[in-house]
Amino acid sequence: QKTEGTVNDKLLSICTLLEKHIPYYNWVGFYFKNGDKNELKLGPYVGEPTDHTIIPFGKGICGQVAVSNKNFVVPDVAAQDNYIACSITVKAEIVIPIFVNGENIGQIDIDSNTPDPFTEADERFLEFVCEQVASIL
Ligand code: SME
Repeated sequence: QKTEGTVNDKLLSICTLLEKHIPYYNWVGFYFKNGDKNELKLGPYVGEPTDHTIIPFGKGICGQVAVSNKNFVVPDVAAQDNYIACSITVKAEIVIPIFVNGENIGQIDIDSNTPDPFTEADERFLEFVCEQVASIL
């Protein structure tokens, strides 16, 4: 049994590395399903503190990914109706689900201050990161 502290240290290290080395990754965090509730809970993150530590399924980009089980790439957050703003500096967002035994148990969420920065290379890379994360949970 892995302790939550150890896992959270690793997740925070991943956030720190991604934010530090990829210039257009400006807020990097993990959300996980909150027990049996139909909501996401904020896990380790790097960037400005957010008020949105709990996100109901279906709400915002993150909540939609909790339901769709699909990557969500948002080139322009201003064009999204179902979007939860955390900071006025954010222009774009990417959310990639994390699967354990085929179940969507959480996600990595990245905000960018650069408009339309995310490519398919980001999706493939972050899918790989999420697979690695799944293997340590
Ligand atoms: N923008 C997200 C909320 C989380 S913040 O980006 C940290 C959303 O719409 O779900």
